[in-house]
Amino acid sequence: MASPNAIRRSGLLCLLSLLISFVSFVEPRYVMLNDNKLNKANENVFTYSKVAMLNRPEKPTKNNFRFEMDQIEQLYGPANSLQCTMDDSARFDCHPDTGAHAAACEARGCCWAPASTLKVIDVPYCFFPTNYNGYYLDQAKNTESGFSSRLLRPSYSKSGWPGDVFELQLEVAYETKTRLHFKIYDPNNKRYEVPIPTPKVTEIPDALAYGVNVIPNPFGIAVFRKSTGAVLFNSEIPQAPLIFSDQFLQMSTATGSGLIYGLGEHQNPFLINSTWKQFSFWARDVFPMDNTNLYGSHPFYLGMEKDGSAYGVFMLNSNAMDVEIQPMPAVTFRTIGGILDFYVFTGPTPDDVIRQYTEVIGLPVMPPYWSFGFHLCRYGYKNSTEVQTVINRNRALGIPYEVQWTDIDYMDRYLDWTYDKEAYGTLPDVVKNLHDHDQKHIIIVDPGISNQYPGSYAPYDDGVKAGIFVKNATGQILVGSVWPGKTAFPDFSHPGAAEWWYQHANNFHKEIPYDGLWTDMNEPSNMGRGGSTVGCTNNKLDKPPYTPGIRDGDLTSNTLCPSAKHYEHNHYDVHSLYGHMEANATHAALQRILGKRSLVITRSSFAGTGQFAGHWSGDIASSWEDMYYTIPQMLNFQMFGIPMFGADICGFREDTTEELCVRWMQLGAFYPFMRNHNDIHSKDQDPAVFSANAQKAMKLALLLRYSLLPHLYTLMHDSHISGSAVVRPLFFQYPTDKNTYVIDRQFLWGDTLLISPVLTQGQTVVSAYFPRDLWYDIYEGQKIVGNGSAVQLQAPIQKINVHVRGGSIVPMQQPDVTTVAARKKPFGLLVALNVSMQASGTLYWDDGESLDTDKAGTFTSIHFTADKDQLTSQLQHVGYRSEMTIDSVRVMGLSSCPTSATVNSRDVTVYCHGETKV
Ligand SMILES: *[C@@H]1O[C@H](CO)[C@@H](O)[C@H](O)[C@H]1NC(C)=O
Ligand SMILES: *[C@@H]1O[C@H](CO)[C@@H](O)[C@H](O)[C@H]1NC(C)=O
Ligand SMILES: *[C@@H]1O[C@H](CO)[C@@H](O)[C@H](O)[C@H]1NC(C)=O
Ligand SMILES: *[C@@H]1O[C@H](CO)[C@@H](O)[C@H](O)[C@H]1NC(C)=O
Ligand SMILES: *[C@@H]1O[C@H](CO)[C@@H](O)[C@H](O)[C@H]1NC(C)=O
Ligand SMILES: *[C@@H]1O[C@H](CO)[C@@H](O)[C@H](O)[C@H]1NC(C)=O
Repeated sequence: MASPNAIRRSGLLCLLSLLISFVSFVEPRYVMLNDNKLNKANENVFTYSKVAMLNRPEKPTKNNFRFEMDQIEQLYGPANSLQCTMDDSARFDCHPDTGAHAAACEARGCCWAPASTLKVIDVPYCFFPTNYNGYYLDQAKNTESGFSSRLLRPSYSKSGWPGDVFELQLEVAYETKTRLHFKIYDPNNKRYEVPIPTPKVTEIPDALAYGVNVIPNPFGIAVFRKSTGAVLFNSEIPQAPLIFSDQFLQMSTATGSGLIYGLGEHQNPFLINSTWKQFSFWARDVFPMDNTNLYGSHPFYLGMEKDGSAYGVFMLNSNAMDVEIQPMPAVTFRTIGGILDFYVFTGPTPDDVIRQYTEVIGLPVMPPYWSFGFHLCRYGYKNSTEVQTVINRNRALGIPYEVQWTDIDYMDRYLDWTYDKEAYGTLPDVVKNLHDHDQKHIIIVDPGISNQYPGSYAPYDDGVKAGIFVKNATGQILVGSVWPGKTAFPDFSHPGAAEWWYQHANNFHKEIPYDGLWTDMNEPSNMGRGGSTVGCTNNKLDKPPYTPGIRDGDLTSNTLCPSAKHYEHNHYDVHSLYGHMEANATHAALQRILGKRSLVITRSSFAGTGQFAGHWSGDIASSWEDMYYTIPQMLNFQMFGIPMFGADICGFREDTTEELCVRWMQLGAFYPFMRNHNDIHSKDQDPAVFSANAQKAMKLALLLRYSLLPHLYTLMHDSHISGSAVVRPLFFQYPTDKNTYVIDRQFLWGDTLLISPVLTQGQTVVSAYFPRDLWYDIYEGQKIVGNGSAVQLQAPIQKINVHVRGGSIVPMQQPDVTTVAARKKPFGLLVALNVSMQASGTLYWDDGESLDTDKAGTFTSIHFTADKDQLTSQLQHVGYRSEMTIDSVRVMGLSSCPTSATVNSRDVTVYCHGETKV
């Protein structure tokens, strides 16, 4: 962003063309969506008459599409003796609970046989036979949006789990061309269903991208891609029967390729190893580690097919569950409550899948511009003087620095909506000082509300009056213990809770005018085991017949009793929604208090929480390994519709090192949410405490980030309106390049920047994969012709390698110490030409904080295109007017240095690097 005396203009962003003087001013254009009524496409509609209604033991008719797994066809036989012959990889666990033995197994109508490959401990010994007596289809009929059927289980057949539901209802809805929805529920008894809004569709769209096939006995449903026949969901596996009992429900799908991603929140490499793996789900306060259920619950995965097409599968269920992956390859969803409610998305690109998924769960919130700045926090600032000292010393470095946070230390006796008038007596001054410098302040709040000061602590007293606390099984307020000691827990599903939360947030805002809220401990976390201070009951909710493979093997561990009562539901059902509901109430409260956009960062999340909040990955360690894991985590949360993701830069637990912290600041400069945060037991890790060299490296990373904020903001806005991922794994852009499927040490911003961080101690060379495309080093412009292999890149300690994809135009802006200052600086364009000497890019711009700018049209959108020797800007929408100036255009990919350039026919200065021709 050099060239000080290049182009300068006032007014709206100047239109410019390089080299040849030519201006094209295109009126804002609105594309009308085609709303012609479409004919019902009969050929797409499953007609049940094609499927014979058969009863066991006859063989079901073969249907008219091909399976990818041949073995399925061979697996039928007479029902009187168990058919137990199959590959180990095709065994589906019939005894996931402990204590499996032959008699227990046979009592469930299952096969018992030691695995033939004894080394592999995960191969089940107890597994379903291929002639298991499960559900069969009855009374299928077409409906307005698809078809429905009864599913019946013979009365003599028992799953072995209490409360088999012998009659089920199947509803299949062709909701959109690319989205199938089916659910299986008990038509005779209303069961719990996740109380989040999902789209309702009543008419079958034209030209479905998928087809559906059903086999009647045993019931199985398959969804396939019409264009290729690839199977996207397939429960037509006789030895993986549907089970639907009161507290044990499961359904399996044979996945085509076994290449699957998602299933959070877990600490795991990005590509899921389909050897034998169990992921369990139940929101949990625990340090991130392998094979453990973590803070959030996202039962969604994205799969890649053999030809590079992508699909997605989502089970809308908030109960405790397991998702089991096995090398067949197959995936089993096993939940202990609710109903079986599935969505299948057909893509066909990976990003299409995410857009289709967020259409169901909700699009991500648009964060304010300032929230993309650098955030600093630690747990353990002794007093507000120390906070001011930290602010001063980092401000003195002249680094971009946007938000200072305070952790629970600021509170009076750890009570929400209070501050410690002694140690933190000057907190109001600190916040004022931040605001005077165009900086922001964010505070933590926890859900636990102390019950220790009745009569003198209004949040508790008012909460009791409003009846908004979670009750125990006998109807009294459930008492647990969190930071302030004994606490009650607000029930954010109670209709009065949001108002109560708003009132106290608003009152406190008058004392401490915070700019955003950090909702921690909302799994909800209850210190000490046992669900409440008096333990839990032994009823079927607290001690269910089956407990998924969650940490401690106990639903009551470190949280509330599952038998606790929320407004309409049991904690058993809504536990994993607690953080989601708190984020919803917190987001709503902030909008009311501030009247503009704000930032909520939540620890616990569920499908759709991105509508309200961003997420950080919790209490990770200051280790190289945990730093690496933040990349797969970030990529996962992009897929979960929570693009505003970050991890504690330099690590939370344990002491960081200077080298680790520098490398992490460099990586963190490419997290959408960038916060350095530290634990109370660890030594300081804010940039100011390191050596001058380290500070310089950190500053360079921050300057690069700030110069790219217009681009990041544009990507986030795309995500907000379309669900598109902001940060992407390489295969999102190169889905047919199979080498990219395992890459989770590099990532992309949108389709423009390739980031290749150093993730290993002592390393100053990075082996970086370059997909087939042209790439340019963002600093100097050296070209790399990607040929689908790794390139060794120099990565001295001051440098993070970032490459721009040929074909992109990246809007940039000169950085400054805050976004308020940077937003007044001139813009620049980085033009990276592709082989056809073309490039394009977009800038979305608004005031950075107003609500609903899309609806109000108070934004400006500019499209840039470069073609050979000419660069053109087109105003697509002009609704936000501010002074925007372009003062430099850097062009990469020219074969020779130009001798002159004009902007709207006026000559401007050209600088050209002899070697790189930039
Ligand atoms: C958020 O809360 C509001 C008010 O309670 C409710 O209407 C809405 O459905 C909630 N949204 C989600 C996604 O849960
Ligand atoms: C997958 O897991 C299996 C068993 O743990 C292991 O042997 C194999 O190496 C893993 N594969 C990959 C690609 O990590
Ligand atoms: C604040 O805490 C620091 C330790 O970080 C201590 O040195 C200082 O005296 C304290 N100041 C006040 C005003 O309490
Ligand atoms: C509910 O809470 C009350 C008061 O703490 C306690 O006496 C009672 O035993 C609790 N009930 C259950 C089922 O835990
Ligand atoms: C890719 O290019 C590099 C040189 O840039 C070369 O060493 C390597 O052999 C090429 N690989 C392939 C697969 O063409
Ligand atoms: C080059 O980039 C332009 C603009 O993004 C694009 O339309 C064109 O298809 C690209 N050409 C090649 C060969 O990738």
